[in-house]
Amino acid sequence: MRKLIAGNWKMNGFTGSIAEFDAMIAGIGAGSDMAEALICPPFTLVSALATRAGGTAMAVGAQDCHTESAGAHTGDVSAEMLADAGAGYVIVGHSERRADHGESNEQVAAKAEAAFRAGLTPIICLGESLETREAGATEAFVLGQLAASVPETAGVREFVIAYEPIWAIGTGLTADAGQIGEVHSAIRKALIARFDEHGAGVRILYGGSMKPGNAAEILGIENVDGGLIGGASLKAADFLAIYAAAV
Ligand code: PGA
Repeated sequence: MRKLIAGNWKMNGFTGSIAEFDAMIAGIGAGSDMAEALICPPFTLVSALATRAGGTAMAVGAQDCHTESAGAHTGDVSAEMLADAGAGYVIVGHSERRADHGESNEQVAAKAEAAFRAGLTPIICLGESLETREAGATEAFVLGQLAASVPETAGVREFVIAYEPIWAIGTGLTADAGQIGEVHSAIRKALIARFDEHGAGVRILYGGSMKPGNAAEILGIENVDGGLIGGASLKAADFLAIYAAAV
């Protein structure tokens, strides 16, 4: 399966970051059949980056969308607006949004539906807290999130899953290969049980302190079909080193 190396800039990036993005585009060159490169900047940069990425091997996405296409929702941005700005992907249900904005699985599923409606590919995020892991409840928790955050219509649409243990995000801690492999294989089984063949082709990304030094090992784990990278996606050199580990 073609891997997806996705950068999540979170609330980072100014117009001055466009030069860093240009260096990423230059670094991936003509791209590769082995891996696709994607950067998800804050809303303010989606249009500018999508313009730079036009005609190149780089894709651009966003980090959230509203469930409605337009209307009286001050401060929100719809999936249709993101598509219009040149995005091809949108992250939904990141743990930081679930925590900061109280997003439920049902809301995340509705956001994924909105992405489909607008022709975007949603990257639906799942992941357990340290407390849940220590209680031995990781698999049940993540599979519960998967069942409720992936809408039924996903059976005929392209979507991506990102498994990001909350305790590994931005902490420098990564899940070990055994922990990652176990959860990814449980997600794969659940996707196949629900969507048959289609579920076998869904890319499952790992996220949480992925960096140049651990990317090759993580990307080599069965059922790891790419990465969702926060901190290490802000610098072209780091992002390109991770991309190089996938191609
Ligand atoms: P990190 O973030 O790579 O900085 O840990 C990953 C993410 O939250 O998507």
